[in-house]
Amino acid sequence: MPLPSNGLDRDELFNKIRERKANDAKWDEGKTFSLIYPTGRDDVDDVLMEANQLYLYENALNPIRFPSLQQMESDVVEMTGDLVNLPPSGGGTMSSGGSESILMSVLVNRDRSRRDRGIAPAAGNIVYPTSAHAAFAKAAHYLELEARPIPILPGSYTADVDAMADAIDDQTVLVAGSAYGYPHGVMDPIEDLSNLALERGIGFHSDTCVGSFVLPFMEQLGYDIPPYDFRVPGVTEMSCDVHKYGYATKGASVILHRESEWIGLQYFLYNSWPSGIYGTPTVAGARPASPIAAAWAVMNYLGLDGYLEIMKTLLATTKKIREGIESIPELSIMGDPIGPLLTFTSTAVDIYAVCDLMDDQGWNLDRNTDPNGLHMMISPLHEKYADDFLLDLRASVANAGESRGIEARYN
Ligand SMILES: Cc1ncc(COP(=O)(O)O)c(C=O)c1O
Repeated sequence: MPLPSNGLDRDELFNKIRERKANDAKWDEGKTFSLIYPTGRDDVDDVLMEANQLYLYENALNPIRFPSLQQMESDVVEMTGDLVNLPPSGGGTMSSGGSESILMSVLVNRDRSRRDRGIAPAAGNIVYPTSAHAAFAKAAHYLELEARPIPILPGSYTADVDAMADAIDDQTVLVAGSAYGYPHGVMDPIEDLSNLALERGIGFHSDTCVGSFVLPFMEQLGYDIPPYDFRVPGVTEMSCDVHKYGYATKGASVILHRESEWIGLQYFLYNSWPSGIYGTPTVAGARPASPIAAAWAVMNYLGLDGYLEIMKTLLATTKKIREGIESIPELSIMGDPIGPLLTFTSTAVDIYAVCDLMDDQGWNLDRNTDPNGLHMMISPLHEKYADDFLLDLRASVANAGESRGIEARYN
């Protein structure tokens, strides 16, 4: 496709974009349950837009040219570290998202194992439950490590500590677990898993990409949260996504290391080219500045009291949706999800047929496999749509049942 020989007129241009966008998911109408985490608050959206706009053109590659970005990045890292009890010896950097934070953690642990334990360059494996995010497999692929995904326990969908213990050997460079995991929203036994690593002198990554801006606030609201952060001695790394339940726009995650000395292994430094010293903390060279500004802005705008307020609404909405699903006899929640991420399944109806019928009504649920289930990440915006959602879900289950000859219970 060549460039248009004459540039488009502005109105025509934006009409074309809007025309294409019309087919995208209607997340702002509360119809999606993944990818975007809307607060549903105009004031928060305004703050995000202004911060993005202020830093639309800047480049975070060079902190000397843009000291304001360096300061904001370090504030975001420190505020996030404080939420998950990073000790004073620790540190971290921002990255573009959960996957890049995990990639950096695997890189640091691989190279730390090579340096401190003499693991050979062609060797090394990482051990994690099959419920861990695909980013761990991706990191193993990029970094030429053997991936060892270990089946999770049926019923609870949590990591199998004994099977993980059997899989760890003297070539293991990292063990990982999720607090909480993407597929079912359940907590892995972080303390037990990280003890396996600690006893063997191996790093342990507690993946809190979805949990880091949920669990600390739940704990402060008095919920009983199993240990998952740096208070657990074996946890060496944590990934915390501000662009999920921190409500920043996309491109903002934090990778934290228990010892700031390890960040040196994350940096790429180079001076054997004609343009002087070149250094980057993550994969990117030129680095968008607006995600850093947006993350700093939303964290400071909401503050602790703002996050706690949002969390109360979010947990009330989650309870309503969870109880609504549980009240439909054909459906059951998979495992015991701790926060606003849950998956439900059915032995009575084809759950994918339910998904199709929900799709027909504009609700975009995601499909889990093995066993089949429907996956939801609830956001504060869903408060307004929970009743409509449950009504349509009941009807869809009834219709999916009918299509298989099961008497419809609801009309
Ligand atoms: C637990 C967990 N880890 C990692 C990731 C990857 O994050 P990202 O999509 O920002 O790369 C996700 C994404 O949903 C996640 O839920």
